Amino acid sequence: MFVNIANKTLNLTIRGCRKLSTNKVKIKLQENSKANAWQVHSYGGIDELQYGPIRIPQIRCSDEVLINVEATSVNPIDLFMLGGYGKTLFQIPRNFEMELPLTLGRDFCGTIIYKGPQVGSAFGIGDKVYGFVPIHKQGSFSEVVVANKAHICKQPKDLSPAESTSLVYATMTAWSALYIFGNLLCKGAKGARVLILGASGGVGTAAVQLLKSQDCVVHGVCSDNAIPLVQSLGADHIFDYKDPNYLKKVETEGYYHIILDCAKFGYDNVPKSWKFGTYVTLNSPLLINTDKFGLVGGLLSSANTFLKDNLKPPGEKKCVMWGFFLPSSSGFQFIHKLISNGKIRPLIHKEFKFDELPCALQELQKGHMRGKIVVTH
Ligand SMILES: NC(=O)c1ccc[n+]([C@@H]2O[C@H](COP(=O)([O-])OP(=O)(O)OC[C@H]3O[C@@H](n4cnc5c(N)ncnc54)[C@H](OP(=O)(O)O)[C@@H]3O)[C@@H](O)[C@H]2O)c1
Repeated sequence: MFVNIANKTLNLTIRGCRKLSTNKVKIKLQENSKANAWQVHSYGGIDELQYGPIRIPQIRCSDEVLINVEATSVNPIDLFMLGGYGKTLFQIPRNFEMELPLTLGRDFCGTIIYKGPQVGSAFGIGDKVYGFVPIHKQGSFSEVVVANKAHICKQPKDLSPAESTSLVYATMTAWSALYIFGNLLCKGAKGARVLILGASGGVGTAAVQLLKSQDCVVHGVCSDNAIPLVQSLGADHIFDYKDPNYLKKVETEGYYHIILDCAKFGYDNVPKSWKFGTYVTLNSPLLINTDKFGLVGGLLSSANTFLKDNLKPPGEKKCVMWGFFLPSSSGFQFIHKLISNGKIRPLIHKEFKFDELPCALQELQKGHMRGKIVVTH
């Protein structure tokens, strides 16, 4: 396989490749070509991550591209998956193939170095793109990643690779939770009143901006030191969750079409007096249950909890939904437009280099995020 990249300098250190000229780079990806990655060989803590050469991932579908990763972000899901979270359910889309060694990392920004025959003219070799990798695929904590053409967009002109990648997974999660599980796609977002629990983190800051760009009324919940940040994103009203009267104050604000829980608050802790249409949590018990009780037992136990939460007295219309990141191409096109128009801007909590990736995860583990942690090559 030969890849021509005109007038591009790659920072890729693929072993077994030949650089044929300094200006025009021609890379031969041989059978044994290698790139460096952080991988998990057995589930556990952050110290299970191992850095080393991996075989360049194969493009299996003709509409996929191979990307030289320049930046990625770390997400709570990476920490969870490091400990084996989701290993039972994710085996279904993986066709029950061996999941280890596993490369984590859900989003990326980088340069296309190879494209399949059906990628078409929308993307070419050397294009700078950003995008995501679905949860069951090998991820972006690597120098190279394979992505589907439906899951990438051109890197926004005004943003760096770190800024671009910081917006992908968190904003797509906010979009999925609000538009699909919160049903804004059908009902329309304009004028919706939304309460965001955890408005200062990666998903929360994205959700505030996404909703404000659609003329929604947004109330956020965060700790006092994050209030200026959430205010700067346009939130109409902010509650400090450490204020002893916070629960009562939310009650007096009236009806919310959606309550988005990005703070592991939990439906059991939502006061009965709060008035809302749909409560969407990003921390459902589904994957924990299937890991604990197996596929069938876990699904049955989860169905039981879901039905119990949604069993309401006649006349009560409150609905409980479990929100997940969805790898939606149309969702990504939608948020890409907002990002390109400056309606959603990046918020970087801290930046690390690729060889410090475990430190980035340790930082995430400490909590108190204000936006995203990014990792650059
Ligand atoms: N299901 C999915 O597909 C999916 C996808 C993405 C994320 N998630 C989940 O969604 C959650 C949010 O993700 P994230 O990336 O935004 O996490 P994050 O960046 O760690 O943000 C969490 C934020 O919540 C704040 N917080 C903590 N306790 C709070 C409380 N009681 N009330 C209000 N705010 C509180 C934290 O700041 P302080 O502690 O300083 O207040 C922090 O700013 C995580 O639990 C993650 O696992 C699920």
